Amino acid sequence: MNNTVIPVITIDGPSGAGKGTVAQMLALDLGWNILDSGALYRTLAYYFDKEGLEPEDLVSNFEKIRKDFIVHFEAGIPGQPVKIFFQNQDITNLVRTEEVAKKTSLLAANPDVRAFIKPSQRDFMTLPGLIADGRDMGTVIFPDADLKIYLIASIEERAKRRQVQLKRQGSEVNMRVLLEELEGRDKKDMEREHSPLKPADDSVIIDTSNLDPIGVIKEIKSQPLSFFKK
Ligand code: DC
Repeated sequence: MNNTVIPVITIDGPSGAGKGTVAQMLALDLGWNILDSGALYRTLAYYFDKEGLEPEDLVSNFEKIRKDFIVHFEAGIPGQPVKIFFQNQDITNLVRTEEVAKKTSLLAANPDVRAFIKPSQRDFMTLPGLIADGRDMGTVIFPDADLKIYLIASIEERAKRRQVQLKRQGSEVNMRVLLEELEGRDKKDMEREHSPLKPADDSVIIDTSNLDPIGVIKEIKSQPLSFFKK
């Protein structure tokens, strides 16, 4: 249980398990803040690319990067992805691409990068509460969270969802390529040494393969916690 009065719900799991949609719906429903930590890593990858930096350059450019790295999110509206603002510019469509996802997966494996991002993630914990979506929210960043959810789904279902999401953004991606990319990224995220993707021991695991987002929210809200009582 969290020591502070700020409640936190973590939602972890692999790409396409439904974390984004569920985190957004829950944040809007409870009126809480949202942390899309994948988007935070994606924004850092976008910034490194723009500045011509490599992951190894983080330590020698630490102060500049820390000053430049100003990110905030808006939960937006259901059906549309959480909006990502970098230095007040909406970069949502620039970073929610497969190309940036690939670069992000490499960057996120770097321990200096993870250590750099950790305090920015904790800063999102403000009243009235936080929904934190990612890979290591329940295991590493908010081990004291009030509720830890871990979403899973079959790889075919996750690839299908990713394809719909990318289509909505105007990109056509071949299903076979998408499956291969998802598999590759899952492997990298699960097998990396630092903060690998895995459920926290005290997490509630929900398989979303045959559940719509409303069904998932229902299951989450069936947990006996005071903030779910109307
Ligand atoms: O959830 P996403 O697809 O936006 O995440 C992009 C990448 O960032 C993905 O490869 C996993 C990585 N990531 C991470 O390592 N730790 C997090 N807490 C969130 C995302």
